[in-house]
Amino acid sequence: MSTILVTGGAGYIGAHAVLALLNAGYEVIVLDNLSYGHRELVEEVLKVKLIVGDTNDRALLDKIFSTHDIAAVMHFAAFIAVGESVTDPAKYYRNNVTGTLTLLEAMVDASIKKFIFSSTCALYGVPKFIPLTEDHPINPISPYATSKWMVERILSDFDTAYNLKSVRFRYFNAAGADPDGNLGEDHEPETHIIPLVLFAALGKRESIAIFGTDYPTEDGTCMRDYIHVADLAQAHVLGLEYLLKGGDSEVFNLGNGNGFSVRDVIETAKQVTGKDIKIVERERRPGDPPILVGSSEKARKVLDWRPNYADLKQIISHAWQWHQKRHVN
Ligand SMILES: NC(=O)c1ccc[n+]([C@@H]2O[C@H](COP(=O)([O-])OP(=O)(O)OC[C@H]3O[C@@H](n4cnc5c(N)ncnc54)[C@H](O)[C@@H]3O)[C@@H](O)[C@H]2O)c1
Repeated sequence: MSTILVTGGAGYIGAHAVLALLNAGYEVIVLDNLSYGHRELVEEVLKVKLIVGDTNDRALLDKIFSTHDIAAVMHFAAFIAVGESVTDPAKYYRNNVTGTLTLLEAMVDASIKKFIFSSTCALYGVPKFIPLTEDHPINPISPYATSKWMVERILSDFDTAYNLKSVRFRYFNAAGADPDGNLGEDHEPETHIIPLVLFAALGKRESIAIFGTDYPTEDGTCMRDYIHVADLAQAHVLGLEYLLKGGDSEVFNLGNGNGFSVRDVIETAKQVTGKDIKIVERERRPGDPPILVGSSEKARKVLDWRPNYADLKQIISHAWQWHQKRHVN
């Protein structure tokens, strides 16, 4: 079976993708600098080879590509904090853009020409229409989102120049955890709403803040499209198979097509956990669009992708199962 290099495989989504690849019968090698990842996830839970190193380390990449028969690269390694990217853009461009460019150049020199990329719906900026389709105008409003758009442009140019074929997945809000409870979301610092709400349920934080209660939505709070991390991971396996069969470069949204408000998330978390969760209402945050909901029709059609866990309650239940295991002991 083919060997796949997974960068960022010690992180949240990358680790779930490694699990999906193993279940589909692939061999996997993880490259992660452990800046945010977790060694034990790769070595003890997933039990695959971990190379601790950086995508900006060209000599290391050359060594990996010359000593392993790699069929394709799945690239999750990036810094992900939108707010930090505004105050420290250089950190984001160096890691997310230069790191990816170094990786792509090493791939081309090693004649490895299949690449799966973690992009983001954040590059659409403030939506002009909902649901967002892949042809929605691009208007990134943070250095983080710009870094992802720059890589998408580099990938188009690398296809033209070097015939490097890529699948670019634009994720909506990744959430949930491995249904078997072995993997889950463990960001430090955590900025995503579902784990933060569950931390409040666990008593690890006092309350949950709602930023903006006067948006033009049904209950006044922002609406987002939550996609189960296991469904995301499955899409990556399908994207890989599409490329390995000779598919052309493509871009796909990955979301559920349903919007849930911040209040919906908190209410559902209360039902799932049986705990009261204290809410603090705050001002809107600059740059938060009222509604972000995507259409994933293209991924359904071209990749035959079908999400298994589109229900918000199920997504939060799986996250709760993981957080209880991770934090209550
Ligand atoms: N979480 C989301 O909702 C979401 C949404 C859209 C896109 N994405 C993208 O998905 C990818 C994975 O996100 P995540 O939530 O799993 O993040 P994460 O922080 O959990 O995982 C990223 C991993 O990459 C590693 N890493 C970072 N820079 C590296 C480098 N230069 N070399 C080697 N390893 C490096 C980190 O140590 C970490 O293990 C990212 O590219 C992110 O931009 C995530």
